[in-house]
Amino acid sequence: MKTEGIIIAIDGFSACGKSTLAKQLAEKLDYTYIDTGAMYRAVTYYFIKHQLDWNNPAQVAMALAEIQIDFRRDEDGSLHTFLNGEDVEKQIRTMEVSASVSPVATISAVRRFLVQQQQALGEKKSCILDGRDIGTVVFPEASLKIFLTADPQERARRRLKELLEKGQSVSLGEIVNNLTERDHIDSTREDSPLRQADDAVVIDNTVLSMEEQLAMIKVLAEMRGA
Ligand code: DC
Repeated sequence: MKTEGIIIAIDGFSACGKSTLAKQLAEKLDYTYIDTGAMYRAVTYYFIKHQLDWNNPAQVAMALAEIQIDFRRDEDGSLHTFLNGEDVEKQIRTMEVSASVSPVATISAVRRFLVQQQQALGEKKSCILDGRDIGTVVFPEASLKIFLTADPQERARRRLKELLEKGQSVSLGEIVNNLTERDHIDSTREDSPLRQADDAVVIDNTVLSMEEQLAMIKVLAEMRGA
């Protein structure tokens, strides 16, 4: 699809630091940041909260007709995910949602629903989106596509630190299991599996600082007119 602004797509495995990077890059370039994983998490949270069976197509259709997702900034400027007007930023980051989000993201009706909204959000503005299928499905014409990877142990350690800082009690083992399972489901599902776009730039950030990653991507973005 043709967009009016510049689109930067950041895809990769779970807990590679995509959203931290995308958020900071968006601030530097003054672009809109769209956290597509948060949208899949919000749908999953809705299913859990209303005790719906996501393997039942009629229940999925009914749920999607009721779901409205948007992003709003709070007083300190941080971005929060809203589900039908309720701030669900905290709820969607729990291990309970993390354990179910990948199966929910395999459902084609859910993907169609969210991809359409992501494309509409990015149609008129310069945006940075992070997810699994941004460079392959949502915006295959993106100006810059980054595929982020990192060593699995390092990813688990980073995620553990993040969750402990948020006050969640979780073990490294639980996180390793969750990341392994999500990577497997996300990259083997039938509809829009996680894969590197042919024209993506691959960055392994295991030993890179955030500043180094930002500097690299800023140069790549500027080369493409950002
Ligand atoms: O980025 P994240 O960990 O918050 O994403 C949560 C899940 O959502 C991830 O395991 C797979 C799914 N997802 C997806 O299928 N496509 C996207 N564009 C973004 C996320």
